[in-house]
Amino acid sequence: MVAGRRVLEVAAGTGYWTQVLSGTAVAITATDLNAETLAVAARRQYGSADVQLLVADAYQLGTVPGEFDLMFCGFWWSHVARADVPRFLAAVSGRMPAGSPLILLDNRYVPGSVHPVSRIGPDGDTFQQRELRDGSSHEVLKNFPSPAQLAADLAGTATELAVTELDHYWLAAGRLC
Ligand SMILES: C[S@@+](CC[C@H](N)C(=O)[O-])C[C@H]1O[C@@H](n2cnc3c(N)ncnc32)[C@H](O)[C@@H]1O
Repeated sequence: MVAGRRVLEVAAGTGYWTQVLSGTAVAITATDLNAETLAVAARRQYGSADVQLLVADAYQLGTVPGEFDLMFCGFWWSHVARADVPRFLAAVSGRMPAGSPLILLDNRYVPGSVHPVSRIGPDGDTFQQRELRDGSSHEVLKNFPSPAQLAADLAGTATELAVTELDHYWLAAGRLC
């Protein structure tokens, strides 16, 4: 799906998907809010794509230099609060040319394979309690949208939307309006 594309990757984290995409994309600017995760990404070996790692806020994509013709967000959508979805999609539309493919990939709620939902917020956001090796416990926002929810959220932003449900993951692909 990314073959020959100049990819803007949002919330790239430690570069797991950057590495996967780098085998076929022409170029990837992999962005994340946290320099710590990008420092891990910097230690990976990438494929033939020209890979740039850059600190950037997913809600402020106007700060990212370069020209792109595809946006990829791996395991990011689930961490966008319901109330922030319009703000994130405005940032996406404001940064990418109309007609660009948008690819989102994330977890489905499969009991046993993801942390259970520990709390539901007033906007419908779901939260998990995750423990680190140091014994500390952290509440993490993690939403599990249905295909219908994704279609509704992306209705004004993307056309030709196709949502594929895999056993543990969902993939949404469309074209930005
Ligand atoms: C679940 S990780 C996904 C990382 C990577 N895409 C993957 O699939 O392995 C979510 C990432 O979002 C980043 N993040 C959190 N808030 C962000 C923001 N406002 N803008 C950009 N990245 C953000 C975190 O630093 C983290 O790396």
